[in-house]
Amino acid sequence: MTNVIAINGSARKDGNTAILIRRMLEELENEGIETELVQLAGKKIQGCTACMKCFENRDRRCVLDDDIVNDCIEKMAGADGIILGSPVYFSDVTAEMKALVDRAGFVSFANDGLFKRKVGSAVVAQRRTGAMHSLDTLLHFLLSADMIVPGRPSIGIGRDIGEVDKDDEGIASAKNAGRNMAWLLKAVTR
Ligand SMILES: Cc1cc2nc3c(=O)[nH]c(=O)nc-3n(C[C@H](O)[C@H](O)[C@H](O)COP(=O)(O)O)c2cc1C
Repeated sequence: MTNVIAINGSARKDGNTAILIRRMLEELENEGIETELVQLAGKKIQGCTACMKCFENRDRRCVLDDDIVNDCIEKMAGADGIILGSPVYFSDVTAEMKALVDRAGFVSFANDGLFKRKVGSAVVAQRRTGAMHSLDTLLHFLLSADMIVPGRPSIGIGRDIGEVDKDDEGIASAKNAGRNMAWLLKAVTR
């Protein structure tokens, strides 16, 4: 069965980013696609130490084995589609999301492209500014990992948890992104 893993880089579990991701996942599920949401909030995660051991070991894992990154890499490598979501923190993604993409990205490079030709999409929640820069960060990762990215990534506006639900256009953008991802997944996994 076609499946999608979504990763929420917010420090807040079940916050605005999670709400947007869930709207995307509902659209995917409506099309018979299996989904899973992993939230990094409260989980241990550290940045890349540039040890380059992944290029020596080539075992589809990061040598730092005591946080959530290897679980995420395994789920991402086993999925047909990957959604990365983050709130905007100082005009970029969260430190947790950046740690994940740096390490998952290098492990992917070291292993001939673990995420190659998967369908990738991105979603961000912002209070006011920085969404495009944050999306750029996520899209650079998806594209540099040889993934196929459907238009149009989703942006939702809100500050406190749940506020994004009042952003009708933001919710519509998440649903649209989910439908576009489902369409592309069906086309490439046929
Ligand atoms: C450390 C920090 C930095 C933030 N920086 C920005 C920012 O640069 N621009 C912005 O629009 N919102 C910023 N925000 C607000 C969040 O992006 C916003 O509250 C978002 O809805 C949080 O999503 P979440 O509920 O998924 O965590 C920041 C929040 C925090 C905690």
